[in-house]
Amino acid sequence: MSVSANTETPLVEVRDLVKHFAPGGGLIARRNAGAVRAVDGISFAIGRGETLGLVGESGCGKSTTARLLMRLLDATSGQILFEGQDITRLKGPPLKAIRRQAQMIFQDPYSSLNPRKTVGSVIGEPFAIHGLHRDRGERRREVQGLMEMVGLNPEHFNRYPHEFSGGQRQRIGVARAVALRPKLLIADEPVSALDVSIQAQVLNLLRNLQRSLGLTVVLIAHDLSVVRHMCDRVAVMYLGKIVEIGPNEPLYDSPSHPYTGALLSAVPLPDPSLHGRPRRLLGGDPPSPANPPPGCSFHTRCPKAQERCSEQEPELTERGPGWTSACHFPLSEAERAAMGVGGVGGVAA
Ligand SMILES: Nc1ncnc2c1ncn2[C@@H]1O[C@H](COP(=O)(O)OP(=O)(O)OP(=O)(O)O)[C@@H](O)[C@H]1O
Ligand SMILES: [Mg+2]
Repeated sequence: MSVSANTETPLVEVRDLVKHFAPGGGLIARRNAGAVRAVDGISFAIGRGETLGLVGESGCGKSTTARLLMRLLDATSGQILFEGQDITRLKGPPLKAIRRQAQMIFQDPYSSLNPRKTVGSVIGEPFAIHGLHRDRGERRREVQGLMEMVGLNPEHFNRYPHEFSGGQRQRIGVARAVALRPKLLIADEPVSALDVSIQAQVLNLLRNLQRSLGLTVVLIAHDLSVVRHMCDRVAVMYLGKIVEIGPNEPLYDSPSHPYTGALLSAVPLPDPSLHGRPRRLLGGDPPSPANPPPGCSFHTRCPKAQERCSEQEPELTERGPGWTSACHFPLSEAERAAMGVGGVGGVAA
């Protein structure tokens, strides 16, 4: 594969990616339980400078997908291409070189920062890890520049993480992640541990950096409302599979998959009497990924499910340009209206 990728090549391409975890427990438990199908055959591409949202309920495989992309986990099967290069089984120095180009921000800005290190050394650490030797003065200027870039006071470089608020700590994580000017930034629930009032600030920071640094971003969230204003495209996952993926607008305006519709109808209404509690149409929890239902794995919770849904797995089918969903009976306009989603005046509008 040529190293000089042309501009048409997506930055990242994932082909039929699978990650199964061996079942835990003793021998007997192991005999009865299937492998956990955390990621079960997903395909997508991310263009340069694009922001892709990855959403779905807890346990649907979002973080596993992120860790596969970062090569922190080995795939069971499938392929990951970075700038057209197959990195699925890359090892040693070539892997290290790729890692430098892809960085991650985590959910909990506190536990992901070493409490014994000053903020300056936390942010400057990537330079050390990648052997970019700089003298102290140069390193400090670099770190202070990064602090400024993410809205931290550069004079605070000698302070420790506990001296910062949650939002500021997440800014530290962001500064560290962009220190080496990666091409890809994966933010795994970057704001879900933060106060609602702080969330928008951190998301705005990410969006501004995405633009100014030309980053390609994967933004992971439970909630479709979090990624709405950030993402060019959104992929909705359910039990290790992508059930709908498409450009931001049609997906929010006219969701096709009943699961996407249900997630959108769970968007909190801007009504103080509801105390920000989501209005959920989606009952119960997803089934275990160790034992997913046959046919469409969403059929056990789907209000539209019919016999065919429990027998035949729906394939991703085109609903519009660059927009596909996997459902035998996609939502109609009337059903969307009944769910209060999509279109003008919908909850998510
Ligand atoms: N190392 C592991 N060993 C075994 N099972 C795992 C491992 N990591 C994840 N899983 C399982 O894989 C499934 C997907 O997990 P994952 O963390 O990717 O979900 P997620 O979408 O990120 O969820 P959340 O929103 O709660 O972060 C879950 O059932 C989880 O329990
Ligand atoms: Mg996760």
